[in-house]
Amino acid sequence: MKAIFANKRGIENIEIRDIAIPKIKQNEVLIKIKAIGVNPVDWKGLESGEFGDSYILGTDISGVIEKIGSEVTRFKIGDAVIGSLDFNKQGAYAEFVASEEKFLASKPKNVTFQEAAAIPMSSLTAWQGIFDTLGVVRNEKVVIQAAAGAVGIFALQFAKWTGAFVIAITSEKNTAFIRSLGADMVIDYTKIDFSEVLEHIDAVFDSVETEAKAFKVLKKGGKYVGISSLSTPISETLIAQYDVSASKYLFQSNNVQLEKIVALIEGEKVKVFIDTVFSITEVKEALKYQKRGHSRGKNILVFD
Ligand SMILES: NC(=O)c1ccc[n+]([C@@H]2O[C@H](COP(=O)([O-])OP(=O)(O)OC[C@H]3O[C@@H](n4cnc5c(N)ncnc54)[C@H](OP(=O)(O)O)[C@@H]3O)[C@@H](O)[C@H]2O)c1
Repeated sequence: MKAIFANKRGIENIEIRDIAIPKIKQNEVLIKIKAIGVNPVDWKGLESGEFGDSYILGTDISGVIEKIGSEVTRFKIGDAVIGSLDFNKQGAYAEFVASEEKFLASKPKNVTFQEAAAIPMSSLTAWQGIFDTLGVVRNEKVVIQAAAGAVGIFALQFAKWTGAFVIAITSEKNTAFIRSLGADMVIDYTKIDFSEVLEHIDAVFDSVETEAKAFKVLKKGGKYVGISSLSTPISETLIAQYDVSASKYLFQSNNVQLEKIVALIEGEKVKVFIDTVFSITEVKEALKYQKRGHSRGKNILVFD
């Protein structure tokens, strides 16, 4: 099978290699990959070396189960699945992957395999921020940074689904799109500084790293969560000064939450959006495009 390997650091050094189809353990399934979701951590990991110098890139997949181990209970051969695979191992940019079933959920029946590959990490990150950390509830005023990004689109839709009042930050080209997803207010960050126009906000979901501005707009006791630049700690002095709660987190692959998200998608409460589908032969272009940071929704890789 073909797989995309990191080979020393940097996007330019990745290469397609032919390797054996992986053997599965008793608690694993073998998945024939239909589509792969490109995440910012794919290129960031290549540049930082955090996953080593030689590994198969990526985590997010959709595909069909070809083999099952003897201890697998939730899936059978032929099932269509999605998942964010073991983050520490990576391994998704391949024609086949072996995965423990705990990383997998059923593919939503009403989306294509390409759309399905857009779901795992982005939606789980949004779910864990909006519900587990911010605890967003009906009528709260919530700011979503980078609302047209892969994570932001889900965060916006989850917050709207709870009945929150959503203020979305994006640029002009995405304004109509973001309104169509139900945003109550849209701020174009290229023209307006949100910290100058907002106040008494209950919660901020930040994928850009604007905590100092976010703290200014939060009410006392308001909540902030950030998902980028995890190695840079949030200033405890600022937290105390503004009397807010604030944290950052790395998402966790979680099949229980992913099944809930699948149900919302099948119930047409949440939609999935793709920016661009790249062939696996264009993998370097896909990672460079992702790195530019102006996608609307998810970028996807497919084997021809
Ligand atoms: N902690 C975790 O577990 C976790 C998980 C997933 C992702 N992340 C991180 O979260 C960030 C977002 O991920 P993603 O997948 O959503 O990325 P993405 O899809 O590449 O985000 C692109 C979006 O960001 C917007 N954007 C760029 N600069 C902006 C700015 N200054 N202000 C407001 N919006 C801006 C763009 O809007 P315009 O085109 O309108 O400029 C675009 O819609 C990345 O840093 C990623 O590494 C963290």
